[in-house]
Amino acid sequence: MQSSMVSSARALAERKLSEALPRRWRHVQAVTAKAERLSLALRIQQDREALVASAALHDIGYSPSIDATGFHPLDGARWLREIGFNDRVSALVAHHTNALAEAEQRGLDKELSGEFDREASLVADLLWYCDLTTGPDGQAFTVEERIAEVQERYEPDSVVYEFITGSASVFAEVAKRVESVLPPAHPM
Ligand SMILES: [Fe+2]
Repeated sequence: MQSSMVSSARALAERKLSEALPRRWRHVQAVTAKAERLSLALRIQQDREALVASAALHDIGYSPSIDATGFHPLDGARWLREIGFNDRVSALVAHHTNALAEAEQRGLDKELSGEFDREASLVADLLWYCDLTTGPDGQAFTVEERIAEVQERYEPDSVVYEFITGSASVFAEVAKRVESVLPPAHPM
């Protein structure tokens, strides 16, 4: 059974991404499915909705109808706030996958951290982890493979390349923390 927050998150993501950005939509669906699996494997009932809803919505800021600054975590979170979506989910989207580091490079860090609280928790780690271990077509990746894949797609002097390279050690720590709490035979 799906909660109403999770089903509206899925419906919003589908509406904003499936036709406009089908590849991104495949990635988002796989990240959401992984968040579901890990929340079951870890039995995190209370936080499950926040995790799965934020997984469904994490890249919504790429939608052409939402994109405003060109920085998708901020655009997505602001849009969610505008439509009155859950505050915690909006903040998780704002700060997903070390967005603050990229915001600093773009000169948007004051906006991001001033407008949205950065949550340090297992839920935040799991959201980052699901994103970092899912490729652009929804394929399963290790964190290292994902970093290499992003590095291939962007020019070495681009903001995204610098961000992903500079965040490698932070991402490795997140993966370590998550993998240390996963049950041995967790479904990847
Ligand atoms: Fe993202």
